[in-house]
Amino acid sequence: MAGLHFLNGDNALFRPFFIGKICIDRPLIQAPLDGWTNEPFRRITRELGSPVSITEFINGLDVVHKTPNLPQRIAFSEEERPIIFQLFDDVPERLIESACILEERCHPDAFDVNMGCSARQVANRGAGAGLLRFPEKIREIISGMTSRLSTPVTAKIRLGWDSDSINYLEVGKIAEDCGAAMITLHARTRKQEYTGQSDWSAIRTLKAALSIPVVGNGDVETIDDAQRMLRETGCDAVMVGRAMLRNPWIFAGYDFDDVPMDLFQDVCRKHLQYNIDYYGEQWGCATFRKFAKRYLSRMEVSKEDMRQLMTMDDPDTFRRYFDILLSGGTL
Ligand SMILES: Cc1cc2nc3c(=O)[nH]c(=O)nc-3n(C[C@H](O)[C@H](O)[C@H](O)COP(=O)(O)O)c2cc1C
Repeated sequence: MAGLHFLNGDNALFRPFFIGKICIDRPLIQAPLDGWTNEPFRRITRELGSPVSITEFINGLDVVHKTPNLPQRIAFSEEERPIIFQLFDDVPERLIESACILEERCHPDAFDVNMGCSARQVANRGAGAGLLRFPEKIREIISGMTSRLSTPVTAKIRLGWDSDSINYLEVGKIAEDCGAAMITLHARTRKQEYTGQSDWSAIRTLKAALSIPVVGNGDVETIDDAQRMLRETGCDAVMVGRAMLRNPWIFAGYDFDDVPMDLFQDVCRKHLQYNIDYYGEQWGCATFRKFAKRYLSRMEVSKEDMRQLMTMDDPDTFRRYFDILLSGGTL
């Protein structure tokens, strides 16, 4: 299978590289996805082959003010290492301070600064992709972090705020000048959010302009897409977001329909178990529903059976139903 050779080093398109002490020795990296890339799911993506885990974005404000939801956002298991904590904020000093607090408390292997979130409540307050409108703030943030932390700092950006203000090259150079160890480009503007096609030619341009590793991101759904992105852009690695929600096996070199059935079923069961271990029976099953729906798109599940599964509140019955449907049975 081409995908397996691709991931097992038999691949002229990929050379391992380092972010500080983190060795990126495989070409596909798990993207941070708020609401999805929690500890149980990251364990799955790591076990399947992502060389690193990246948390959902963590609000600098929550860190400094120790809000009640913080422990959940920063939780990770040691087996997951290397782990990158992703931070967002619009106030440079607070973002830097939050990184200092987390460095001392959790010792992540790197910090990533989110400059790509397009959500209104984040970007409009000047955080996430909102930072792209203020390159001087970006300079302050990255230089402040690299000078005050011993942990490497990376950045995740978009092309710019909108098509009239494309500035990914300027931002990339600032990040590199200020000591960033890697940059990821989601090749869309903030205004595009998730519409249209990502512009991979910008990834190529950024890679040619910088000497730090450049990770390409946007619209990679298959192993073939990933290989094409490496080939067409020369990027150092490829970050996979939405496609991994249905197909975390992509990190092991499989397209969804090609995953061997025993591996497919084993990983689905393991993911549910990790969720339960982490959240407890009730919440573990409830938060697994959205994954179950995606995974079961591989099987021929009737609308009625899916409805029964999605509305089942009793954890034991949920597990039993999931297992039946996963094995190809009907309820
Ligand atoms: C539901 C959702 C949540 C996301 N949360 C984050 C986040 O916390 N941090 C971040 O940098 N990007 C976040 N993103 C953006 C993804 O990391 C990625 O850049 C984007 O989905 C494009 O990649 P894809 O085409 O492979 O999905 C999110 C995207 C989605 C759809």
